Amino acid sequence: MRPTSLEQMSEEEIKQAVKDKYSQVASTPGAKFHFPVGRNFAESVGYPREILDALPPSMSDSFTGAGNPQPYADPKPGETVLDLGCGAGLDLYFYSRAVGDAGTVYGLDISEAMVDKARKNLQAVGIRSVEMFSAPADAIPLPDGCIDLVTANGIYNLSPDKDAVMREVYRVLKPGGRTVFAEIVLKSHLPKEIRKNIDDWFRCIGGALPEAVSLSRLRAAGFHDARILWRGRNARTGHKLAICAVIRAEKYAGRISEPNDVNAEAPSASFRQGQADAAMGSIGAGGPNVKQDYPVRSQSAEDGHPPCFGGYSPFRGAVSQDQD
Ligand SMILES: C[S@@+](CC[C@H](N)C(=O)[O-])C[C@H]1O[C@@H](n2cnc3c(N)ncnc32)[C@H](O)[C@@H]1O
Repeated sequence: MRPTSLEQMSEEEIKQAVKDKYSQVASTPGAKFHFPVGRNFAESVGYPREILDALPPSMSDSFTGAGNPQPYADPKPGETVLDLGCGAGLDLYFYSRAVGDAGTVYGLDISEAMVDKARKNLQAVGIRSVEMFSAPADAIPLPDGCIDLVTANGIYNLSPDKDAVMREVYRVLKPGGRTVFAEIVLKSHLPKEIRKNIDDWFRCIGGALPEAVSLSRLRAAGFHDARILWRGRNARTGHKLAICAVIRAEKYAGRISEPNDVNAEAPSASFRQGQADAAMGSIGAGGPNVKQDYPVRSQSAEDGHPPCFGGYSPFRGAVSQDQD
């Protein structure tokens, strides 16, 4: 029998267990899971009902994101986007609409079952331009500097080596590129007794980082302007210390692409601050870009998700004028 105690599991065993669990989500989405799965969850975090109605049910029945990055991800026509941990392809659908025929979208997931499902889902709605990889996020099968925007909706929590994933994201981004992702983060470190079992990992709490640590680690990986765009609660944030955050960070467009490059141009103030934070191991609540009194909101269609889908191009033409 496989170990289920996180303390006894190696990183490879955790990755394999995650792959198996999310393959089950792909093949039997109606089964019982310890985390929210499916269309109702997607709708509850603000994916518009009209669009979900128009898509094949299998596009949303395995939806199990950390939340909803769509109002904050900003793919532009012609850009190249990579979605890490793309699952059954709901977010890929929106990104491929946004970048249009001149753009390129890649989807990556460690689970072949998810990749197959996403591929079929996208083909069913006539999208053939998305290229899919079954691969771990800490070994992205793409060359350096080829992506404008790396997105994710619940990948770091599930990845044992988060720094390796961040380094890979940084590597594949073009200079000036950015990453925008939804993630479950913690208000402070979890008591050890909560982080016991692989089930805690599956539901995105066992592997979650405190919010300020996430930002510091992004800066340590070389990113600048790492910040929280939104934070709030949803069905994934059952534990009182957990919140969903949408995080954004950029790869500097100048010559500071390598953190220790002595010939690089002067880094921005926020980059320098980030390096200092990382060096100091600044953790816990209250990094330089963490506003302690930032309102925590529920993420739903009803509460008017901040810039919501109105100002956001992928939804233009896909939703009624009233919503637009
Ligand atoms: C929380 S689910 C979210 C899926 C999808 N983004 C969505 O919104 O429905 C995380 C996805 O990431 C994949 N995943 C987990 N760890 C991974 C890793 N290290 N590398 C690549 N994919 C991973 C899982 O197989 C799963 O499909």
